[in-house]
Amino acid sequence: MLKLNKLEKQAIKPAPERYDLCRQLCDCALQFEEIWERRQIEFEAELEDQAWIGADMGLMELVWANLLSNAFKFTGPGGTVYLEQRRAGDRIQVSVRDTGCGMDEETRRHIFDKFYQGDTSHSMEGNGLGLALVKRILELSDARIFVESEPGKGSAFLVELPAAEFPKMRSTGR
Ligand SMILES: Nc1ncnc2c1ncn2[C@@H]1O[C@H](COP(=O)(O)OP(=O)(O)O)[C@@H](O)[C@H]1O
Ligand SMILES: [Mg+2]
Repeated sequence: MLKLNKLEKQAIKPAPERYDLCRQLCDCALQFEEIWERRQIEFEAELEDQAWIGADMGLMELVWANLLSNAFKFTGPGGTVYLEQRRAGDRIQVSVRDTGCGMDEETRRHIFDKFYQGDTSHSMEGNGLGLALVKRILELSDARIFVESEPGKGSAFLVELPAAEFPKMRSTGR
């Protein structure tokens, strides 16, 4: 809540640094281990060994945590959540996909609105601000987000970020 307000008023300026996105995705996903085990959801990850990006680590952590928590929240026992990362030219793509309840078109149109909650049966488990925050962070980070979803089949959130150069040894001379 506070964070979104501050981001909107530009009181928080992203502080980009170069870091390994794969490591961040791994660490973030592992925080959900207890949840996927308890709820009997399969979790599958397919990541490169390393992928360097230039972004605000703390803000990006919020993006992955929100997308993953939604995926686990809107998927029932026996379902699967997939986390995938790949390179596409000079961009890095991350997708968080689930086989959960999915969304109808009306819901899909509003998911990035503040306080919007499409599925009221889970309304106690959130405040409808997660995706509004995600969108704002990505706007400020030169990144984009795409959504695909079908009721009863599941949802996929695709984030595309600029890749940073692999860190090199500093060369001597000029
Ligand atoms: N993975 C998903 N599967 C189905 N619906 C989703 C998913 N992620 C988001 N939504 C829909 O978008 C709405 C907004 O999400 P969010 O901003 O994170 O709020 P909250 O999680 O508090 O409901 C949700 O209430 C839900 O209707
Ligand atoms: Mg949420």
